[in-house]
Amino acid sequence: MAQILAVANQKGGVGKTTTVLNLGLVLASRGNRVLLVDLDPQASLTVFMGYDPYRLKRSSYSLLMYPEISLVRVMQTFGSLIALVPGSVDLATAAIRMVQEQHPLGRLRTVLRETQFTFDYVVIDTPPGLNVLTVSALIAADQLIIPVQCNYAAMQGIKAVQDIIRHVCEGMGNPELRLRGVLPTFFDSESLFAPKVLSDMRALMPGQVFNTVIPYDPSVADAPHAGKAVVDYAPDSPAAEAYRALANELLT
Ligand SMILES: Nc1ncnc2c1ncn2[C@@H]1O[C@H](COP(=O)(O)OP(=O)(O)OP(=O)(O)O)[C@@H](O)[C@H]1O
Ligand SMILES: [Mg+2]
Repeated sequence: MAQILAVANQKGGVGKTTTVLNLGLVLASRGNRVLLVDLDPQASLTVFMGYDPYRLKRSSYSLLMYPEISLVRVMQTFGSLIALVPGSVDLATAAIRMVQEQHPLGRLRTVLRETQFTFDYVVIDTPPGLNVLTVSALIAADQLIIPVQCNYAAMQGIKAVQDIIRHVCEGMGNPELRLRGVLPTFFDSESLFAPKVLSDMRALMPGQVFNTVIPYDPSVADAPHAGKAVVDYAPDSPAAEAYRALANELLT
């Protein structure tokens, strides 16, 4: 049975998609079979993986909306170890229709848990904000990773996500969901305040913040221009090193 990890934060631009992509690639490089799932209407993960989200016939939208569509009809494979359920712009519509038409929010959970494919890890990317798409991911997941930027507003998104975890555990069909860790991102060692933000984070949430810290690293934003993730584009960069350390932390 795969470990299903959701990566979420109400706040935008904190490194959710970057984490899903690089963590997924590192896990696959260690021989794990990895499925990445894009639930974001912005579909950045899908674009990073080389697809045009406007041209896809099927996407995670199909899985959420149509129970007769199976994973195999939606999934794109990359070699033997990585697969992607792409996202598409119509996921924004899915978010509305799922509420209006009362689609079951547990559909993604069922699809991922009843598939005939064997994955070691499923990593789900979610949109900023906390809507039914994020809730679908949390209902499906075993564990949640919350990337948090090491800046003055760092803690804002965390409380909202913790509340959602409680709801999902208590009444939405996934009592097992647990916070795997808060992941500090965009850490700038030259900033006067980032080390203080990080130590405040660790003090507020003892034992719940990863030891690994993802540094601010321009190579991360450069990598997509070369059509790559930072772990492949600049394997010796501080960010690539940090994503390998994150995988180590998850695997132990
Ligand atoms: N450690 C980092 N150092 C420098 N730039 C980064 C880092 N992590 C991510 N970025 C860049 O910051 C931007 C936002 O990152 P990303 O898309 O991963 O965030 P997100 O949380 O998924 O955003 P959204 O909420 O819009 O989905 C991207 O341009 C990405 O390349
Ligand atoms: Mg994103």
